[in-house]
Amino acid sequence: MTKETSPVPAPMTATDAPNVPIHLRPARSDDVPALVGLLLRLKRLNEEFDPLLKVRADAEARATALLTQDLADPKALVLAAEGIGADKDRVVGIVRAHLRERLFYTPENEGVILDIYLLPLYRRHGVGEYLLRETVQALKARGAGIVTAEFPAHNEIATKFYGKRGFRAVTLVHAKSL
Ligand SMILES: CC(C)(COP(=O)(O)OP(=O)(O)OC[C@H]1O[C@@H](n2cnc3c(N)ncnc32)[C@H](O)[C@@H]1OP(=O)(O)O)[C@@H](O)C(=O)NCCC(=O)NCCS
Repeated sequence: MTKETSPVPAPMTATDAPNVPIHLRPARSDDVPALVGLLLRLKRLNEEFDPLLKVRADAEARATALLTQDLADPKALVLAAEGIGADKDRVVGIVRAHLRERLFYTPENEGVILDIYLLPLYRRHGVGEYLLRETVQALKARGAGIVTAEFPAHNEIATKFYGKRGFRAVTLVHAKSL
């Protein structure tokens, strides 16, 4: 378990999707500060799993630049999950994905899920599965013939989450400090 242990969630009800206590929409530029906060929480969580993923001092500025760039990039997909009830209009989750060409393999177009994060209160209610389903559909609609997910090898949440949904390791990145 990590510092991010989920508290017992309050009862939630559905909005626009059955049994899903969030409203998912494309991210906008005014979401950037909230999305940066979520992205940094994810990177700090990854640091807990692996000391080789130590978060940089300027990570906030880098995240702001990255998200701003993604929002202007037709090959990038950034989704914002808004809460409901007391959390209405508050961004409680993020998905960031890119469309990428596979130079040597077929299918040629790959949708890569780079970041997926939900505030702890919203987890383990099937919201992640809904985010994944909607993201895969959006990537497929933009031409992806295969979907991949990049996440740290020691992030147990991601390993279980994707493994349960039929994802398996294709490429491994091994690292050594110098
Ligand atoms: C990954 C994430 C978006 C999934 O969202 P979710 O709403 O919790 O997912 P769902 O409810 O649809 O699915 C739950 C499944 O995810 C996995 N999972 C979620 N939280 C987990 C945890 N703390 N430990 C282990 N597995 C976990 C399990 O497979 C779980 O199935 P189970 O309840 O039968 O064990 C969310 O847990 C999250 O934001 N985690 C922290 C960020 C992260 O690690 N992101 C992935 C790396 S990029």
